[in-house]
Amino acid sequence: MIGHSYGAAAARASAEAIRKIAGDRTVPVAGIILGSGLGGLAKAIEGAVRIPYRDVPGFPSATVVGHAGELIVGTLEGRAVAALAGRFHMYEGHDPALAGFPARVLHALGAPVLVVSNAAGGIRSSFRPGTLMLIEDHLNLMFRNPLTGAQEEGDTRFPDMSDPYDRELRQLAKRAAATVGVELEEGVYAGLLGPTYETRAEVKMLATLGADATGMSTVPEVIVARAMGMRVVGITCVTNLACGLSDQPITHAEVIETTDRVTGDFQRLVREIVRTLP
Ligand code: HPA
Repeated sequence: MIGHSYGAAAARASAEAIRKIAGDRTVPVAGIILGSGLGGLAKAIEGAVRIPYRDVPGFPSATVVGHAGELIVGTLEGRAVAALAGRFHMYEGHDPALAGFPARVLHALGAPVLVVSNAAGGIRSSFRPGTLMLIEDHLNLMFRNPLTGAQEEGDTRFPDMSDPYDRELRQLAKRAAATVGVELEEGVYAGLLGPTYETRAEVKMLATLGADATGMSTVPEVIVARAMGMRVVGITCVTNLACGLSDQPITHAEVIETTDRVTGDFQRLVREIVRTLP
């Protein structure tokens, strides 16, 4: 195969195989990546064809993936969508290009918009567990970039990153939040490699750098999406106060507990975003 194993040609092959399995469907208005604990939205997708990652050609084998994941094609609010529940995190040892590969596949399926979501620790002092934050911008503190290596066909070599999270779609998301009565903050997401949660000193540093929330995902997918010209909108679920901002140690159980609690608000918000997308 010409190009990276997680490049444009591989994504086209995956998309073709997905279309064969899912049948001929309308081109999705959006591709949706569901973060930790936020997979509940996948159950709301109607007329859904669900494809486990192990059956998605081009995705790494189950042993490499190491966790369940599925790609869901169907409709939300009457609009065609393709959603991915389950990520390829760099902290699992995955290549940055693989972490960004889901965006390539969604693009190859024809989605012009990428909706990304994640769970993160809250840094801004007013944030509480359960706060939903529209991502205004990000800090790539993973110190890796999914575009390194040969330029992929269709990619911009040096993508402009002045507004990776589309201005118009951010306005649309704020209107959507107001319509469904969900409180939505806006702030900067710092993406770190993980899998450790941050130290107290690191959280102080992140606050100084202008971060409002911190997590271990999203940045690779967004970079790849921007290189291909997809418009991006991102939602962070603040699941806990970042290290040092509360007396409690951070546990994955707390993260999941919080996402369970806010999944209703999150789903209403994303449904309204999808309903009102251009
Ligand atoms: N830090 C990094 N990633 C996270 C956190 C956190 O506090 N909470 C959920 N994901």
